[in-house]
Amino acid sequence: MNTIRGRLTFWYTVALTATVLVFGTALYLERRQSSVRELDQRLALEADFARRWLHESFNVLSTVLRPTDPQELQPGVAANFEGVRDLLLVFDRRGRTLYINDPVRQLNFAAIEVLVSLAGAVPSPSATGTALLPGGEEPMRYARLPVDGAGQEVGAVVVAAPLSAVAFGPADLLRSMVLVVPLILIASGVLGWFLAGRAMRPVERLMDEVQEVTDGRSLHRRVAVPTSGDELARLAVTLNAMFSRLEQSFSQLRRFTADASHELKTPLTVLRAGIERSLVHPGTPSEVLEALDTTLEQLNQLNELVDSLLTLARADEGRAPLALETQDLRALVVDVGETAGMLAEQHGLTTQVSVPDHPVEVQVDPHRMHQLLLNLVTNAVKYTPAGGSVAIALEDAEEGVRLVVRDTGIGIASVDLPHIFDRFWRADPARSRTGDRPGVGLGLAITKWIAEAHGGTITVQSRPGRGSTFVVVLPRAGGSGSGDAG
Ligand SMILES: Nc1ncnc2c1ncn2[C@@H]1O[C@H](COP(=O)(O)OP(=O)(O)OP(=O)(O)O)[C@@H](O)[C@H]1O
Ligand SMILES: [Mg+2]
Repeated sequence: MNTIRGRLTFWYTVALTATVLVFGTALYLERRQSSVRELDQRLALEADFARRWLHESFNVLSTVLRPTDPQELQPGVAANFEGVRDLLLVFDRRGRTLYINDPVRQLNFAAIEVLVSLAGAVPSPSATGTALLPGGEEPMRYARLPVDGAGQEVGAVVVAAPLSAVAFGPADLLRSMVLVVPLILIASGVLGWFLAGRAMRPVERLMDEVQEVTDGRSLHRRVAVPTSGDELARLAVTLNAMFSRLEQSFSQLRRFTADASHELKTPLTVLRAGIERSLVHPGTPSEVLEALDTTLEQLNQLNELVDSLLTLARADEGRAPLALETQDLRALVVDVGETAGMLAEQHGLTTQVSVPDHPVEVQVDPHRMHQLLLNLVTNAVKYTPAGGSVAIALEDAEEGVRLVVRDTGIGIASVDLPHIFDRFWRADPARSRTGDRPGVGLGLAITKWIAEAHGGTITVQSRPGRGSTFVVVLPRAGGSGSGDAG
């Protein structure tokens, strides 16, 4: 029940059940009332018929009784009562039965006793009521009518019938309701589920659209505003306004980073030129030379940082277009391999470079691709202790062109793997930027951007203490990937 649709259906069904129950109870009570009324009318008619028959028989025969002991109705008179389908009893003036019809005879003794007692006080007044039968049998409605025109003896007639004797009585109604109500509830539950689904569909569409705005780069998207003008339309408008504000602050932030790094570049260049000139100036004392040397080193790192920031800020703004050209990647790999060889030698590492013996043509920005490979290779060298090895391989695989940089270094803990491509993320931030493994944590962020800008992917596999393998897969030139010749 954790969806609005489920909850709507649930409450709808609960409300409907309550309505049906109230309606059903009211209907049942009403039906019972009118059943009693109908039955009473029928019994009154039958009793009246019996009284008049006794009357007329007396007028014709001058007696309706047989001279037996105990007395009973003459068979000729009684024959007419056998056709009455309800229970019929005729009493004398002392409350003794003169006649009972066939339906009465079929009852058990206790029930007959109750019916006989309905003769009531002597002489019997006319009455209607409900008689409770022993043994949990259905209660009877009865009508009693005094008879005084049928001789000295005949006192009253009683006609009785169980409540169920009415066509479609309350019991039938209850039975039908028990059968029909669950069906109605199931049907309306299903209907409610579909209706709620229909009502929720625009909300789900809106959710899907909002979900597509995944990061700062998709903030230019807007959700479609429904023409309905309802709450959802308002929500869509509100969301769009929020996206606008977010987009604005994101772009201000990016603009600020880009502008700040750009503004830093000129003074840095001037500074560096100055220091370089001082370094070659004859007569500079050696202590000053040493200080200038360290300053230059720091300045170079600062320059790199500013470059990286500028690259990422421009990439975010979409202002870092690739200068694509078709290239045989083997040349690039061999070139970076040489740099890697020199770097590795300084750190006491060995390197291997392997390329296929046929050209591997790919549409790339050579400068960026060089940067990508160099980032991976410098990491491999930086994070591999002396004695280890670094391997660079170019492979022409089925899924595309693979650039693989493998090292036998310190590796990356699995909890860290999801973060290594984040900006300014370093496995060991406690280590100073200038220590034995200098860096700021932007290299892999840039590498990932370059790979993706070329329509490629970058993945990593690593085990702490065993080494890491970075794999870049690029779409082949002229292949189905993006970046077709142009
Ligand atoms: N080959 C590797 N072996 C082990 N850890 C690695 C390797 N490559 C990257 N890392 C981990 O990922 C982190 C991020 O790498 P990234 O290249 O982005 O930053 P960096 O090398 O620390 O700094 P720089 O911005 O100078 O490249 C590193 O600090 C390191 O902890
Ligand atoms: Mg790095």
